[in-house]
Amino acid sequence: MIESLCIKVPRNAGESTRKSLIELRLLDNNLKIKSSQDYLFIPVSKPIEGLGELGTEIFEISGHENPMLAVPGAYELIGDIAIIDQHEKNALEIANVLLKHKNIKTIFQATSAVSGEYRTREVSFIKGETKTQTIYRENGCKYLLDITQVYFTPRLSTERMRIADQVKNGDNVVDMFAGIGPFSILIAKRYPDTHVIAVDKNPVAVKYLRENARLNKIKNIEIREGDARDEVKGILDADHVIMNLPHSGLEFMDSAFGIIKRGGTIHFYAISHEDDLFEGVTAEIEACARKAGLQVSPLDRRIVRPYAPYQYNICIDFRVSSSPYNKS
Ligand SMILES: C[S@@+](CC[C@H](N)C(=O)[O-])C[C@H]1O[C@@H](n2cnc3c(N)ncnc32)[C@H](O)[C@@H]1O
Repeated sequence: MIESLCIKVPRNAGESTRKSLIELRLLDNNLKIKSSQDYLFIPVSKPIEGLGELGTEIFEISGHENPMLAVPGAYELIGDIAIIDQHEKNALEIANVLLKHKNIKTIFQATSAVSGEYRTREVSFIKGETKTQTIYRENGCKYLLDITQVYFTPRLSTERMRIADQVKNGDNVVDMFAGIGPFSILIAKRYPDTHVIAVDKNPVAVKYLRENARLNKIKNIEIREGDARDEVKGILDADHVIMNLPHSGLEFMDSAFGIIKRGGTIHFYAISHEDDLFEGVTAEIEACARKAGLQVSPLDRRIVRPYAPYQYNICIDFRVSSSPYNKS
């Protein structure tokens, strides 16, 4: 038995919290999760805000060993392609362990961070089949993609489900930076009466987005290629706007305010320093809203995943209404 930091959550939020902690790499797998009648106590390796009540408890040491945890380094698995973290020194050793798993066929190592307008990264081939295209399955959908030409991360899978859970059948949804479609396709598939407009500027991402709409037999999606500012002009009645461009999303806030229905929700992603996770971004959103004669009220704010030392990918969901000071 050992004392550890933990997150206390109601039982019905246990599975989604456990998945988020795995994505955040904060779940302490060496200890067994424990429960009371109403709550789960999930052991964590570091304090974390926004996922539940933080505390300490005594935990049993877990006996089981997950074979994937024996991999000697950090990697991301997209379909049957594994991408080893760019900072790992022992890529070949990691590749040899990964290739023992029957579902992993190809190993790359990232040689740059995700960068540039299309948010892609450089990779170098390490071992296995020489291919860059794969099919990734998530939340009951499948996505074809080329890991070298488009942005994609499996680490947002719980986040995409969290956003989809907020949509109602019949809603109008605009995904301003849709990539190969993991938010748009999930929502369109789950709610056949929604109308989803999915925009991306990267022509290759749009090619895969179209292909993925076909693969998942989605009819209620309208795909637009180009700059989100231009492509969303004329929309007036979005119930939800998804803004997943964390480094420069604020530059597009006026466009989002132009298309959101009064009472609609914007899901805004950003990268923040741990010393000011939410306040600075919220103040900037409020300033943009004032300029647009609107008022925003926060619905939820959360850490989505760690991004870099001391930096986190965060999401703020907020409702938009007319400003009481705006007479028009
Ligand atoms: C962080 S990725 C998110 C993709 C997708 N939402 C996902 O979760 O996989 C941001 C996307 O925005 C696209 N993008 C960048 N600038 C853009 C712009 N001005 N207008 C539309 N799309 C843009 C990039 O090509 C990229 O696919």
